[in-house]
Amino acid sequence: MKLGLETRPLEAARAEVLVVGRWADPARPGPDFTALDQKLGGLVSAALKAEKFEGKVGQFSHLYTNGGIAARRVLVVGLGPHRQADAEAVRRGSSVGLRRARDLGAAAAAVFMPRDGLSARQRAHAIVEGGLLGTYRFDKYLKEKSPKAIDVLTVVEPERRNQAAAREGLKLGETWAASTCFTRDLVNEPANVVTPSYLAERAAEIADGRGLALKVLERDDCAKLGMGAYLGVAQGSEQPPKFIHLRYRPRGRARRRVALIGKGITFDSGGLDLKPPEGMLRMKDDMSGAAAVLAVFQALPRLKLPIEVHGVIAATENMPSGTAQRPGDVVRAMNGLTIEIGNTDAEGRLTLADSLAYAVKEIEPDEMIDLATLTGAVVIALGLGVSGVLSSHDGFAERVLAAADAAGERMWRLPLHDDYKEGLKSDVADLNNISNQRGAGAIVAALFMRDFTANIPWAHLDIAGTAFAEREHPLGPKGATGVGVRTVLNYLMALGGKR
Ligand code: BES
Ligand code: MN
Ligand code: ZN
Repeated sequence: MKLGLETRPLEAARAEVLVVGRWADPARPGPDFTALDQKLGGLVSAALKAEKFEGKVGQFSHLYTNGGIAARRVLVVGLGPHRQADAEAVRRGSSVGLRRARDLGAAAAAVFMPRDGLSARQRAHAIVEGGLLGTYRFDKYLKEKSPKAIDVLTVVEPERRNQAAAREGLKLGETWAASTCFTRDLVNEPANVVTPSYLAERAAEIADGRGLALKVLERDDCAKLGMGAYLGVAQGSEQPPKFIHLRYRPRGRARRRVALIGKGITFDSGGLDLKPPEGMLRMKDDMSGAAAVLAVFQALPRLKLPIEVHGVIAATENMPSGTAQRPGDVVRAMNGLTIEIGNTDAEGRLTLADSLAYAVKEIEPDEMIDLATLTGAVVIALGLGVSGVLSSHDGFAERVLAAADAAGERMWRLPLHDDYKEGLKSDVADLNNISNQRGAGAIVAALFMRDFTANIPWAHLDIAGTAFAEREHPLGPKGATGVGVRTVLNYLMALGGKR
């Protein structure tokens, strides 16, 4: 999709369809809308009145302008109550407006959103992000691709003093959405394509084009470093494991050093503790955290932030076989702790344990964020719309949550309740990878991982419920959501002083 800025007033904006957002508050049509309506001899307001258009979310009005203004058609989109005038309302309005414009056969659309609440930069950002995310599709394996697509999206910003900011917002929206869609593509791709080697190749592509440093550790390298927890998971698979380490360094002095860690299980069968069919079906998405980390590195060089960022992915399959790890096995992680394998399906925390221990030892970061489709329990706790945040440091957790909120991704903190640690005791090793107590599975998994963080500020995002949508939603179709990418980008920008 080509993006652009339309600097002429609404009635002069050139597009097949002019999408105009409208709050559910008839007393405030706004001066731009009023001017447009007057130009069309009151046609728009008359149509809205006849249709009992109230500006509710999901309401549309579509009319042909018959040469009255430059745009051939106008599509008015309800944005919901005015008191909720935030970026998410604009994102969603832009998304559903463009989807509708596409269904109505338009290939070029211009979008105007009222100026309430948001800065020009935020508004343009939200329009572009909503438009790109909302019209995303994964149809590469379909013979019959949908013929309808929006090829050109322009953001209408007639106010001259706002235009530089709008250009900036447009670029950010494009960067964030492109990274999110990169993640979606990678997660939607099936596990017979996305293997650990494939992830390593994609990492190499990202690094090559952008001057990033990349190390890929092979099985032997990992063995030398003592990553017994990670390699135990990998030993059942025919696919060789790949431990991926990316690094971005700013030109000048770095203010902070951050490690981003992504769970990279390219298929989670459960291992010898095999999952039942319904539970296994979606398990190609168990590398969603890894895909989000790769996407962040794709965007990073463009953002030019004064922070050093490392990406760590312990990529492997989790498969049952004659060489697979057995329940009851004992492994030793890179930090020296021994782990009894209580359940081979609790594999994510094992690969993350060595990822964290590696980051602590080899990277020495100021802070670490991991993204992982880690537990079914977080789905029970928070459902499919909210990611879990678990963190050892309150201030850090607050900043991550604030970044998520501003990016429009819903996250909620769960407590790292120390008493639950008791359940992870083993008779034969320092830790068991599952708890012998009931409930709080998302918390227990995080408590397990905390032992590998060496008390460096750490935030764990459990995205098991949010990484993959079971139905169409306001910002995308069924399938991978790309969750976490926008939160992390927003977090890094704030850290780099750019927000
Ligand atoms: N990848 C799964 C978690 C998951 C479940 C992601 C559902 C997305 C949807 C993880 O490796 C897993 O199997 N977790 C187990 C842990 C249990 C054995 C302690 C779980 O949550 O059931
Ligand atoms: Mn599992
Ligand atoms: Zn898993």
